[in-house]
Amino acid sequence: MLTGAGVSAESGVPTFRDAQTGLWARFDPRELATPAAFAKNPRLVWDWYAWRRERVSRVEPNAGHRALVEIERRVPEFVLITQNVDGLHQRAGSRRIVELHGNITRVKCSREGTHVERWDASDGEVPQCPSCGALLRPDVVWFEEMLPPDALAAAENAASRCDLMLVAGTSAEVYPAAALPRFAEEAGAIVVEVNPDSTALSHRVDYALRAPSGVALPALVAASWTA
Ligand code: APR
Repeated sequence: MLTGAGVSAESGVPTFRDAQTGLWARFDPRELATPAAFAKNPRLVWDWYAWRRERVSRVEPNAGHRALVEIERRVPEFVLITQNVDGLHQRAGSRRIVELHGNITRVKCSREGTHVERWDASDGEVPQCPSCGALLRPDVVWFEEMLPPDALAAAENAASRCDLMLVAGTSAEVYPAAALPRFAEEAGAIVVEVNPDSTALSHRVDYALRAPSGVALPALVAASWTA
């Protein structure tokens, strides 16, 4: 299973390529989520993530997330590879998750990469690493950065061993995640896309379920196990 931002859309988390609303509408995420943006204006990038973290903390997992928990319960080999950083799969109850792009709820040292459990941003400044004094940053993968090698290896391994790959809520435009369905395809797996719109992947998949994931995934569970 590979998920992207669309799976959280029905929870009220805007997809990455949607227009942003409110305060941050004039910023393009692709310009804020880069190492260069953080080097130039760490406060702006920190505040943007703080705003997103706060928004995500106020929304709930949806029926699509819950259906994936149900699949995990019934399919021992099930692996959930996600590009999402919102932590909603975990909050829904999924456990076997490979996070390709990190998690917005975690923070790490911008120099050493070590995780930091507690930080204080109450003075409005970007907090610093308690051990080396460098600025803290969200534990997410920015544009131009490498994916965590272990997560990528686990994802490629799972994709190349599966016999069915569901791909839900992703535009399949951002690599290397977008290449994972090809691993499955080359291993002879059936690839099923769940997305109301067609994507860069659509022409290659075996089946396309053109519906929101909050509808299609529960329907898939119902059709698979209650017939
Ligand atoms: N159900 C399923 N799919 C949906 C829904 C829904 N309810 N609503 C929207 N979608 C689809 C859109 O049609 C689109 O194809 O979700 C996809 C979202 O695409 P993107 O915004 O490009 O998100 P994603 O593919 O996850 O982006 C990949 O790029 O920006 C980086 O790191 C960021 O993880 C992100 C990565």
